[in-house]
Amino acid sequence: MNHSGVASDQKPAVEITKDRNGIEQIVLRNPRGASTRVSLHGGQVLSWRTDRGEELLFTSSKAIFKPPYAVRGGIPICFPQFGQRGSLEQQHGFARNRTWVIEENPPPLQSYDSTGKAYIDLLLKPSEDDLKIWPHSFEFRLRVSLTADGNISLISRIRNINCKPFSFSIAYHTYFSISDISEVRVEGLETLDYLDNLCQKERFTEQGDALTFESEVDKIYLGSRDIIAIFDHERKRTFLIQKEGLPDVGVWNPWEKKSKTMVDFGDEEYKQMLCVNGAAVEKPITLKPGEEWTGRLELSVVPSS
Ligand code: BG6
Repeated sequence: MNHSGVASDQKPAVEITKDRNGIEQIVLRNPRGASTRVSLHGGQVLSWRTDRGEELLFTSSKAIFKPPYAVRGGIPICFPQFGQRGSLEQQHGFARNRTWVIEENPPPLQSYDSTGKAYIDLLLKPSEDDLKIWPHSFEFRLRVSLTADGNISLISRIRNINCKPFSFSIAYHTYFSISDISEVRVEGLETLDYLDNLCQKERFTEQGDALTFESEVDKIYLGSRDIIAIFDHERKRTFLIQKEGLPDVGVWNPWEKKSKTMVDFGDEEYKQMLCVNGAAVEKPITLKPGEEWTGRLELSVVPSS
């Protein structure tokens, strides 16, 4: 063992590196060798790997990693707006375009905690320019953890440090890596009402059983239960999405035609990704001065037949 409580032949639980553009990234590892990589650009999780090194999140081969562009893949954080419902021009807000910092207090952990979990705490505060487009002072604290079982969790704490209330919407825009969009099935959203972005946000009710996909989908399911599953038969694995404080779920796949209009997305890549996003969007969250909101997402993967 070295001084940080890590066996000397083992990689550290928390490692800080830099990407090609000099942007800091934090790699979290658990004792079994699973890992996750978080960029300070957007506070965005860019990779989540099992202990066998299998990547579980999709990132486009055409993704742009230079700020101020948002990276097409991983888990972009959409804040203070998700979708075109707020006052901002950027439909998914600006948090995913900004550079976050590592919270100095407490300092980053160099070893696992007693449960074998590694984590990092990040912070975003608005810049002068941000305040011009969204005039509300906030502190957004994000804790990204990798558990001993290889699950990742993202806990957001947003505090109003203004002298007047503000409202926001938020989503963890999660790009799951899948074998084939035509073969996967999502359970946990059946019978719910949804707003269809492809039909001027008209409200419909989901019919039938699990969701399957055969064309573009861009929907916000309202008031879902706190666990959703994505079954991927070909890969013999199921993603479980557990959430707290995030009543809604965005489901998005651009399919063939829209893929061709996106510069940072390959023409055929829609087949290998599905976004299922824990969100709070239909009823924006309002914080009075000094109040704090917490939202939590935990992702796990289990073998399935
Ligand atoms: C989805 C939206 O959540 O995100 C879609 O509902 C949008 O309408 C997609 O196309 C991607 O958005 P962006 O801003 O990352 O290109």
